[in-house]
Amino acid sequence: MTQEDLFKNLIAHAKEYGFIFPSSEIYDGLSAVYDYGQMGVELKNNIKRYWWDAMVRFHENIVGIDSAIFMHPRIWEASGHVGAFNDPLIDNKDSKKRYRADVLVEEYLAKMEEKINKEVEKGRKKFGDAFDETHFRATNPNVQRHVQKAGEVSKRLNEALNANDLVALKQLIVDCEIACPVSGSRNWTDVRQFNLMFSTQIGSVSEDANVIYLRPETAQGIFVNFLNVQKTGRMKIPFGIAQIGKAFRNEIVARQFIFRMREFEQMEMQFFVRPGEELKWFEYWKETRLRWHKSLGLGDGKYRFHNHEKLAHYANAATDIEFEFPFGFKELEGIHSRTDFDLRRHQEFSGRKQQYFDPETNESYVPYVVETSIGLDRTVLAVLSAAYAEEKLEQGEERVVMRIPAMLAPVKLAVLPLVKKDGLPEKARGIMNDLKYEFNCQYDEKDSIGKRYRRQDAIGTPFCVTIDHQSLDDNCVTIRERDSMQQHRVPVAQVRGIIDKGVRTGITQPG
Ligand code: GAP
Repeated sequence: MTQEDLFKNLIAHAKEYGFIFPSSEIYDGLSAVYDYGQMGVELKNNIKRYWWDAMVRFHENIVGIDSAIFMHPRIWEASGHVGAFNDPLIDNKDSKKRYRADVLVEEYLAKMEEKINKEVEKGRKKFGDAFDETHFRATNPNVQRHVQKAGEVSKRLNEALNANDLVALKQLIVDCEIACPVSGSRNWTDVRQFNLMFSTQIGSVSEDANVIYLRPETAQGIFVNFLNVQKTGRMKIPFGIAQIGKAFRNEIVARQFIFRMREFEQMEMQFFVRPGEELKWFEYWKETRLRWHKSLGLGDGKYRFHNHEKLAHYANAATDIEFEFPFGFKELEGIHSRTDFDLRRHQEFSGRKQQYFDPETNESYVPYVVETSIGLDRTVLAVLSAAYAEEKLEQGEERVVMRIPAMLAPVKLAVLPLVKKDGLPEKARGIMNDLKYEFNCQYDEKDSIGKRYRRQDAIGTPFCVTIDHQSLDDNCVTIRERDSMQQHRVPVAQVRGIIDKGVRTGITQPG
């Protein structure tokens, strides 16, 4: 099965089992907006908690806030979002479809990469065991031609974006003979800038003065509270402020499920440091955040850094942590050394000093900032796509299993009486009542035990506890483990310890 088919199946599965629903579905949906269902919200909350603990609880010098989504409109002028938070857009005159011009070129480059890979595969088939991929890539004329062309296109794209040269960007689309995927024509408008912020009005009178924005990032809520937190928390530099919250962007290329949404959640942390020390902290946070990702257990090989060549207007160093989604390596988290840009701009626009008095150096200064910014929904997608597996079992059986890391699994434990009579439900309820304050448990007595195991596999429950007639005599139950499907008979008194260990360490084998 191709990655594309697998991804489609995952999207259908996420809906069928209550993880993610298209928003407003009974009204035919709202593009790039999604709702989290009963399983999705648990998963999302578990990821939030895992991030919050790692950032706020485990760092004495990081505290959290929860700032409002609506903020004074001048904030977005100061931050540069009103002037520069734009995407370059182009319309096809025949289909009337709108595209991001840079994404059209990126897709063209991805197709060239596919062509190169096809050539390599052809070579592999032709030469069999004697195939030397490095040599082949370096010498095959077709590969060489594609590589050279891709290099040229990529260089022109970067130059056009860096110089904000919309004419050059249009010319690149024309020269690459890129056609509209819908109409197939090359009848394009000029490229123009489109601001991504949603605006609305505050108050009862609709005048320009009342226009406010839905925040496109949570970071500015942290910057404008920098001194509030620093003073009331008696924070000493270096220190961080973390926040989890909604952000809104009027994305034009809104696709790939929850990867690019118009309403999404970010988990951001701004780390305030002494000027001149920002690049040291930038390296620290790069490594620390990568370690956090790897600790999720989705596979160390699924992550890579992508250092930015084109830096945002506020940054002096930036990298992305990319994750290997079913549609390739894409940005999951951004780590930016934002200099003193934001605080300085707020100082200028608000007229209030945004300075810190450093008791160690006896100096006042505007701190520099290193930011870590991870998309919560993208993390959900990373977890779901790494977890989803369609497996063939013995005797021709099949199962879909979500191998969600135990600490993130929506339900930790399913409690299953073998039959719904003879006192087994009462015994099962007793066990569940004993454990439900510590773990999210689900009780299920409907259908055969096999079907119930499959249902729990499908939502990623790491443990099932089955209560049978013998349990009434020996006070033992069968624990069935999701990934290995192994079953162990254990005393009821040991169940708590086994689940606890599994949830804390990811070790899901009893014992
Ligand atoms: N404060 C910095 C900032 O917002 P960003 O790279 O624009 O930086 C940070 O966004 C993270 O937010 C991204 O790495 C991504 O995970 C997530 N994100 C951004 N736009 C998104 C969208 N439209 N849908 C879902 N997640 C998004």
